[in-house]
Amino acid sequence: MSYKTIHVKPLTRHIGAEISGIDLSIPLSAEQVAELRRALLDHLVIFFRRQPINLDQHLALGRYFGTLHVHPNSPGPDGYPEVLPIHTDANSRRIAGDRWHSDVSCDEAPPLGSILHLHTVPPVGGDTLFSSAYAVYESLSPGLRGYLEGLTATHDGGPNYRERNRLKGIDDTGKVYPKASHPVVRTHPESGRKGVFVNPAFTTHLDNVSKAESDAILNLLFDRFAVPDYQVRFTWDRDSIAFWDNRSCQHLAVWDYFPEVRSGYRVTINGDKPYLRT
Ligand code: SIN
Repeated sequence: MSYKTIHVKPLTRHIGAEISGIDLSIPLSAEQVAELRRALLDHLVIFFRRQPINLDQHLALGRYFGTLHVHPNSPGPDGYPEVLPIHTDANSRRIAGDRWHSDVSCDEAPPLGSILHLHTVPPVGGDTLFSSAYAVYESLSPGLRGYLEGLTATHDGGPNYRERNRLKGIDDTGKVYPKASHPVVRTHPESGRKGVFVNPAFTTHLDNVSKAESDAILNLLFDRFAVPDYQVRFTWDRDSIAFWDNRSCQHLAVWDYFPEVRSGYRVTINGDKPYLRT
């Protein structure tokens, strides 16, 4: 089906499309929103260039797609609890998103999607990679798919967020982070397609199997997301936007630009409890 209100240029066979012909700083029509949603479902991550939006416009854009998420570890700027600053400079010791992940998958109902706008980019580097959870699932043998469909995995925010806080000198003793068990294969609630839903940033173990089995299977799945055939790689310009579907893809931010600055804001849309429909 073609699009009437936006131009959609697919970037790879499995994942990613660049969208043009739309100004995200002004109110969108219902048809534009419906077509953006369709492009997101079809391409898992959509990219926009030359979109210099402010925080209020960014929040308004997110609200077209659902209610907004407040991050469990990183507070937003004053008056903007639903905005997640993404910032790296010469004093950083780690960057956000430096391992493959689906955002905050440790939540009981993890985010549907995330919209990242960068207002400052390094002269070179700082790309983000996205990998299709559908393509990973479809790359597995029928026997392994069937085995995985009987499993759940634990996603724990504690280890990830505590380590980040330790590096920033933040004492989070006593703080409780989200932790949840999700199906290893989830059915996308809108597309009906199945995708693998475990990631090295949050998934600590497969439930009810030995540690050796859990480690081996998880490592096999994590490695599949790193296969270039299932990925798209986005090179940012100033005022680019990436909007990804956390239910159908994972992403990884590359830190190859130290000590340069890369900075922007993310608005994250609330999602549903993952399920598997067999
Ligand atoms: C994130 O994981 O939200 C950050 C991605 C990026 O900075 O490219």
